[in-house]
Amino acid sequence: MNILAIESSCDETAVAVVRDGRSLLADCISSQVDIHKLYGGVVPEIASRKHIETIYPLAEQALTEAGITRADIDAVAVTYAPGLIGAVLVGVNFAKAAAFALGKPLVPVHHIRGHIAANYLSHPELEPPFLCLVVSGGHTMLVDVRDYTDIQILGGTRDDAAGECFDKIARVLGMPYPGGAALDRMSQGADGTKYPLPRAKVDGNPLDLSFSGLKTAAINLIHNAQQKQEEIDVPALCAAVAGAVSNALVSRTELALEQTGRGTLAVAGGVAANSRIRADVTALAERLGVRLCLPELRFCGDNAAMIGAQGYYEYLAGRTADMTLNAYATKSLVGETV
Ligand code: KG4
Ligand code: ZN
Repeated sequence: MNILAIESSCDETAVAVVRDGRSLLADCISSQVDIHKLYGGVVPEIASRKHIETIYPLAEQALTEAGITRADIDAVAVTYAPGLIGAVLVGVNFAKAAAFALGKPLVPVHHIRGHIAANYLSHPELEPPFLCLVVSGGHTMLVDVRDYTDIQILGGTRDDAAGECFDKIARVLGMPYPGGAALDRMSQGADGTKYPLPRAKVDGNPLDLSFSGLKTAAINLIHNAQQKQEEIDVPALCAAVAGAVSNALVSRTELALEQTGRGTLAVAGGVAANSRIRADVTALAERLGVRLCLPELRFCGDNAAMIGAQGYYEYLAGRTADMTLNAYATKSLVGETV
């Protein structure tokens, strides 16, 4: 079954062709990062306009790369939520038009379910159930993937997402948007113990996290040093931030593995590319004797291949949509049914 998959929820326009959920025939991405960099963050109106310009030629390119024609498409999958609403709607309406014109089913895919499914592409033998640590620019959560479309949120951040925390600290350090990857590069090999940063404790659910205190502490430290004209050891501060974020994630992940008894751990989302987090979850999995799945770096950030992978399982579960899909685009929970 060939799925044409569309992703336009933020600043990447992406179109992929995925066969039977696991095999990638084409994976086209057009990033807008260089445009939004000028403003230090994503400008939603510009993002929507760029998606409109890009999506059609990108879909044509994906079909050419896949070596198939329109007639070979069996379903159209699309990210329906969450995301910048104008940006999401460009993809949703393109997908609706394509599905309608081809007379094929339309399959709405939650963006976070897509990130989780990136692991199916990198690990063809991976099957639920497994525990997944989802870490992106907008989300940080631990989810129990009971089945391909039966996903339960166990805990998550009460405030900032891990990626947001990295990006905001990186921005104050003068790194270009999105700063997470630059902060990661800067931190490598540096002494992470030089700057002690707070570890937040959250009342209630022991699997919940908080990153806003860490973000504020790091930013205050930078501003204080600037006011006193003291030099900051930037690599050491970046290593301290990465260490603090990773410790918080890994301790909750360990607890969630204990609670659920799952024998497989997967990691998903843009922040899954972080070298410190990858090293720490690898060490955790080895210590606990659980199997670890990390997505390849190309499938960590936003892409349409992951939407095609999850779209296949949503289709098999009968979770297709009619043409009123716009109404769902404002919903943002992983467990939401469509
Ligand atoms: O999943 P994603 O592409 O978009 C969302 O769904 O949010 O994640 C983007 C986030 C950004 O915050 C970006 O800075 C972060 O992932 N990121 C990283 C790294 N690469 C990307 N954060 C830390 N270390 C990295 N190597
Ligand atoms: Zn994402």
